[in-house]
Order: sequence, then structure tokens, then C-alpha cells
Amino acid sequence: MIVQPSGPPLILVSGGTGYIGSHTCVCLQQAGFGVLVGDNVTNSSEGVLSAIAAISGRRPLFEQADVRDAAAMAAIVDRYRPVAAIHFAGVKSVAESVRDPLKYYDNNVSGSLTLLAAMTRHGSACLVFSSSATVYGEPDTLPLQEGHPLRPESAYGRSKMVVELILADLCTADPDASVVTLRYFNPVGAHPDGGLGESPLGIPENLMPHLGRVASGKAAALSVFGDDYPTPDGTCVRDYVHVMDLAEAHVAAVRLALQCPGVRVINLGTGLGVSVLSLVRAYATACGHPLPYQIVARRAGDVACYYADPERASHLLGWTARRGVSEMCDDSWRFINTPTALGSPG
Ligand code: WQD
Repeated sequence: MIVQPSGPPLILVSGGTGYIGSHTCVCLQQAGFGVLVGDNVTNSSEGVLSAIAAISGRRPLFEQADVRDAAAMAAIVDRYRPVAAIHFAGVKSVAESVRDPLKYYDNNVSGSLTLLAAMTRHGSACLVFSSSATVYGEPDTLPLQEGHPLRPESAYGRSKMVVELILADLCTADPDASVVTLRYFNPVGAHPDGGLGESPLGIPENLMPHLGRVASGKAAALSVFGDDYPTPDGTCVRDYVHVMDLAEAHVAAVRLALQCPGVRVINLGTGLGVSVLSLVRAYATACGHPLPYQIVARRAGDVACYYADPERASHLLGWTARRGVSEMCDDSWRFINTPTALGSPG
């Protein structure tokens, strides 16, 4: 039986209860799209759907399913007939991918193939793909442009690169297929109302969640992985981009995908490099007290500096990041201090 979604075009959001996915669901609904979340909720909770509804005024449609489950994904597409998909579902720890590469190729590559098989049951693919700047590896030049060689240095990065190649081949084979691949730099922050943010299960590896744990007293001090890099203050430089800016970019990307076929690869970053210690200072201002830290050994695999050239995002999506580091830290801190049904973030 086909569920005839009344009104707005329906977007299937795989991994829609995750960090970037949930914020994107809010923006999609506020932009007038219908949202169907398909998620196995292994690294999140269904409570996120209520948080999305509390902000946007509408609870997304939801089907609990693993994107690798071909029968489930086919049944979902047959039942709801989404006009496009935004594919977030996957795993994203660089360190874990080195220890367990097969988990990353299974989730990220096989899962993408299964979703594509479902999304092409009733016509050509129309997809926005969640990729990562980690596909570049060590930069030859900065800022990073989309044509920079791809030299990912982890199974996570290679899994994202493989899916990008699959999508490019798909669009070569099918001139009616439409793909927008988005390479995120460093997503941080939270929705400004405090009800939605980064709340993975377990303790994440990334800098921003660790800053939140130190600021809230859950951790005694931040370990800064090296201050002997060739950067202004010796700590690594990254292009931190507010998750709300990213979510707005996904709305623009799905509109582009719906308007015209072909494959487009786009960096999503601010174009500004920010050092670890700069972010520590900004977070201390946001939380209102100093954040203890200790300099420790470099982390294997870290590169000294990378940040985006955001020109293509501006040209193709009409998008530029609007939110600065202070807002990233303020919104992250507000989320940590907002009692929610999700419980405290990691
Ligand atoms: C940022 C900087 C660390 C933690 C990764 C993935 C990338 C994307 C974002 C998925 C680095 C330093 C960190 C800490 C620290 N993920 N740091 N102490 O490594 O730039 O990117 O996450 O798409 O694909 O590669 O982000 O937040 O882990 O680290 O000093 O406790 O903060 O050394 O310089 P990264 P990160």
C-alpha cells in the first residue's frame, strides 16, 4: 500500500536521528519538505524525533530500519515513495575504522549500495550524500578545493571516497540521476533553542564534545594533542562549521538535486582555520570559566592544518556559513545545560 503523503515532497533522511541528520530534519520541515526518517537508532534515540517536533512543530515520519537491510529499505521506498534521500546513516570514527575496517566498509559502503538500490526502484536516484573532508588526507595546498587529490588515510575516509566514486559512476551511467556529495569539515554546535545537539552514545573522540565534558565537570581537563605543529600557536587548525549552517546547506543541496540531474561535489566549511587553543578560549568564554588543559603527545593521524575553500558552495548552493566560533560554543554549551528527554550528551 502506498502512503500518499499529502502536501509537501517527502525526503527520506537515513540516519535522521543522528547529529547532523536531526538538525537537517528541522530545517527541511521549516523549508516546507515532508520528512521520513529511516534509522536503526544504534548511536542515538527515538527521543530525538520529539526534540525535532518540539522545534519544528511536526514529528517526522519514522521507520526503524538498518540501511543495510535491503528488504526493509525497499519496503520503505515502496510504501512512502520519497522524491529524494539525504544519506547520513553510517559510522564515523577515524580511530575505530583503523581497528575495525570491515565495520566501516559494511556500514558505509554496503549501506549506501542498499539505499541506492531502494531509491532506484521507481526511477533515477536523487540523493544528497554525507561525505567528509577526511577524504583529502594530508593537504598539498590550502584552502582545500574540491579538485584536490583524494588521499584518505583511514578506512573511514576511504569508505567515504568509495561511495563518492560509486555515485559518480551511477551518474555517468544514468543521465537522469542526481547526486550532491557534501564534504563536511568539522561540524560543531547545536540548535540555538537548546533542545537538539550532539549526543552520541558513549564518549566521542572529537574536540568539541570533550570541551563540553570539561566545561560541565564531567572531565577534569582537556588533553591537547600536541602544540608543536607548524601553526600560529602550535596546535592543530581546523575549519569548524556550525551544525545549523550545515543543516541549511543540506536543504539547498536537496533543492539542487531535485532541480537538475548530474553529480556535484561540494565542500561545506567556513573557509576559516581555528586552532585547538583558540577553540578552548572561545568555549571558556561561552561557559564563563577557564577550561583546564594539558598538552600531551600528538594523536596519530592528525594533520596540522586544514580548512575549506567555500567558493563552490556559494556558487552552486548559494550557501555560505553564517555562524562564527562564539555562536558554535554558546549553542553547544546551552545544549549541554538544557535538560532534555535525550538525557545528557556524551
Ligand atoms: C580536532 C582537533 C585534535 C580531541 C574528525 C574526522 C572528520 C570529521 C570530524 C566525521 C585535532 C584535537 C581533539 C581532544 C584534542 N568526522 N583534539 N583533544 O580529527 O579534525 O576530524 O572529526 O566526518 O572526518 O577526521 O576532529 O574534533 O577529533 O579533532 O587536542 O580531546 O582537536 O588533535 O587537532 P578531526 P577532532
